[in-house]
Amino acid sequence: MLRRLHFEQPESFAFTPENRAWAEAQITKYPEGRQASAVIPLLWRAQEQEGWLSKPAIEHVADMLGMAYIRALEVASFYFMFQLQPVGSVAHFQVCGTTPCMLCGSEALVEVLQQKVAANPHEVSADGRFSWEEVECLGACSNAPMAQIGKDYYEDLSPDRLSEIIDELSAGEVPVPGPQTGRYASEPATGLTSLTAYESGRPPHNSSVARALDLGDTIKRIDGSEVPLTTPWRDAWAGKKGGKPATTPANTGDAPVKETPAKAVGPKAEKKPEAPVAEVAEAQPETLSAPRAGGADDLKLIGGVGPKLEGMLNALGFWHFDQIAGWGEAEIAWVDSRLKFKGRIARDNWVEQARILAEGGETEFSRGKKRGK
Ligand code: FES
Repeated sequence: MLRRLHFEQPESFAFTPENRAWAEAQITKYPEGRQASAVIPLLWRAQEQEGWLSKPAIEHVADMLGMAYIRALEVASFYFMFQLQPVGSVAHFQVCGTTPCMLCGSEALVEVLQQKVAANPHEVSADGRFSWEEVECLGACSNAPMAQIGKDYYEDLSPDRLSEIIDELSAGEVPVPGPQTGRYASEPATGLTSLTAYESGRPPHNSSVARALDLGDTIKRIDGSEVPLTTPWRDAWAGKKGGKPATTPANTGDAPVKETPAKAVGPKAEKKPEAPVAEVAEAQPETLSAPRAGGADDLKLIGGVGPKLEGMLNALGFWHFDQIAGWGEAEIAWVDSRLKFKGRIARDNWVEQARILAEGGETEFSRGKKRGK
């Protein structure tokens, strides 16, 4: 597959302030001299911001990471998750054309896309909303033929179903991802032949589909309205390094994120003795023996809280958003140690999400979840 930069390029690229802050936080995950390891997440964020990866965007990311432009271009042109040309504003279809999918009818899917979207791959539809391409195996061969639409997989596709999906997306709906024939996961198409007892008590969707519905971002691009990303590793790292976070190379004209310049590549810095990371003292938050009159809040509207965690939270005495919104560091430590998912509360920013929900607002996650339902 020939992958090259688009013949038309914008003049420049810059991250939005939110995405810039996010990108700088990502860089702090890696040790000094290894900032280039952040190239894929940064290129992805740039693509999420613009819809596709332009030459200025690739060079901007390379500058932030102290990489030669060709090194960043090598990454961008290797992975077909990166779009090197403009794509449809609503969705980009990636149809698998590898042997199992081809034998199961992917060529007929391509014909549907040629008729309903655009005659050629990587051509944006007349209304600017859709585009498509054929890609290599996406690893869902047992549910062939399939296509990736936005971030999710649509499996067991037929030409008619794909045609309907395009219509549904055109109408502003987001069809439920996963198998499109009623098949639960990748069991035999004719039904389970073993472990049949499992069939009766299972949830309505397999875990991949359930997660996709939870996130609700199948065709949504990051736009800065997301719940703020927390960077717990940053605090841990700062604690270990005496409060000095890592740096971005200063060869870009970009404002340095950190206090001192660092080499983008080079020998490892001499290892300094590490200060112990301070343990946060636990404090039990106020709990309730039962939900207040009016019933419990749906804690699953908090991103990162699934049915199991909701049950555990209820068992601990937490039924309402405002309870979680009131947690401080010590209370988080108390709950963390009882949920046995240490760090998850901070990582998924439950407290801020709960605060928004308690005030009657909505988060990107809760909106997506309601839409998915
Ligand atoms: S061949 Fe299509 S997903 Fe593997």
